[in-house]
Amino acid sequence: MKGVSKVVFPVAGMGTRFLPATKASPKEMLPVVDKPLIQYAVEEAVAAGATDLVFITGRTKRAIEDHFDKAYELETELVARGKAAMLEVVRNTVPSHVNCIYIRQPEALGLGHAVLCASAVVGDEPFAVMLADDLLHNPEGVPVLKQMVDVYNYHRCSVLGTMNVPREDTRQYGIVSTEAQSGAVQRMTGIVEKPDPASAPTTQAVVGRYILTPRIFDHLRTLTPGAGGELQLTDAIASLLKEEAVLAHQYEGVRYDCGSKLGYLKATVEFGLRHPEVQADFRAYLEGRFAASLAA
Ligand code: G1P
Repeated sequence: MKGVSKVVFPVAGMGTRFLPATKASPKEMLPVVDKPLIQYAVEEAVAAGATDLVFITGRTKRAIEDHFDKAYELETELVARGKAAMLEVVRNTVPSHVNCIYIRQPEALGLGHAVLCASAVVGDEPFAVMLADDLLHNPEGVPVLKQMVDVYNYHRCSVLGTMNVPREDTRQYGIVSTEAQSGAVQRMTGIVEKPDPASAPTTQAVVGRYILTPRIFDHLRTLTPGAGGELQLTDAIASLLKEEAVLAHQYEGVRYDCGSKLGYLKATVEFGLRHPEVQADFRAYLEGRFAASLAA
């Protein structure tokens, strides 16, 4: 089977947790310091070797297409003003060897349905799925999707990125069961979407990174609505692992849940503290702010 060159980005979701910011613009375009969430995800995909990016979009998502397109007027203006560094930034939202493909998801029927919308473009190849509001950061090491591609290349079966979560949070995630209780890569025995803390089989949660074999499409086609009345990718994976090995990979890195206000704020602070342009002043500000609140 071929390697992983295609990555699917389901970006049709409404982003209700960030209203009114997401009323007319996509949640994936929310910036962390100066880059939109979707660009962090695209950079992680490209670092893992992706050459075809498949965006499953919906209404009000035009800004994503524009972001990865050529911006003629802006580029002309920057050239005229001699702003070479900014021109580079604007031109390099996606490398020139990478293709961007856009597919409309006519109705928001769930993550499983969104992934199924990519089937004609993905064809008979393994592929990745990335949820851009999970911002995964591993600044000193290998980016998370690349870690998973390495696991795929070795084992040649589906791989899910996972982490441990507090038991009270299982209702927010797909929760996996595995054969072994330890080790970074484990063979899965089950997966269930958003279980109650009392009934959750484990506390190992799926974050928004998946590598899937094309066989998943057969399981997506026969899905019936699951948790929340939606067609759940988790349910298709539960069905897939009855016939193929599926691995859970506890990735190295830190996850910021940028689908929530608190996670988004944490990401902003952490990336601000690392951004070459503002890090010194931002650190001084935070230290002063913290000292002031202790004195108050
Ligand atoms: C989705 C998946 C869930 C996964 C989560 C990770 O849920 O359905 O299995 O654990 O992403 O962020 P959502 O957050 O879209 O409700």
